[in-house]
Amino acid sequence: MDREIERVLLTETELSERVSELGAQVTSVYRDKLGAEPLIAVGMLKGAFVFLADLVRNIELYCEIDFLTVSSYGNLTESSGQILIKKDVSFDARGRHILLVEDIVDSGYTMNFVQNMLRARSPASLALVSLLDKPSRRKVPVTIDYLGFSIPDEFVVGYGLDFAGRHRNLPYIGVLNPAVYGSAD
Ligand code: PRP
Repeated sequence: MDREIERVLLTETELSERVSELGAQVTSVYRDKLGAEPLIAVGMLKGAFVFLADLVRNIELYCEIDFLTVSSYGNLTESSGQILIKKDVSFDARGRHILLVEDIVDSGYTMNFVQNMLRARSPASLALVSLLDKPSRRKVPVTIDYLGFSIPDEFVVGYGLDFAGRHRNLPYIGVLNPAVYGSAD
């Protein structure tokens, strides 16, 4: 294993099984809910790119894909609550069924902001699927409609999540070795 990873928190198999369950759940909820317009899955870049790719292949419905990029001013490990839209979605949200796809909800600042922003555009519905949740870190309320795993407050990487740009390509979710984290500027 990579020396920067202390241990595996969620294996490739655990992730794949849970993502498949989430896909089935989304499929069954939206099957009778969608009108003429397909579901639109909006992945939060960059972290959600792996989860989104696996999730949508487990959704058995017409499903469009879009992306949203935000950034938050803050230090390396914690967002500040000031959210900036770097790349907005490229569709008209009015009347659409939107499924936001996020890798992790931590303080909640990002999702709180994004949910409010999209809700103001009058979609037919707005739901959130997040692979991970760190409830102990929450600063502002966020409703997660579909959740993969609730995890303790540890620095996790892999399956899309990074530390200083590294480890997004790991096939599992690992806990970062605190020595690496401690030595970062
Ligand atoms: C991470 C993650 C969420 C956000 C959650 O993104 O992907 O979008 O932080 O944190 P919050 O609940 O405290 O707002 P990050 O800013 O690390 O960008 P990335 O997705 O490009 O890695």
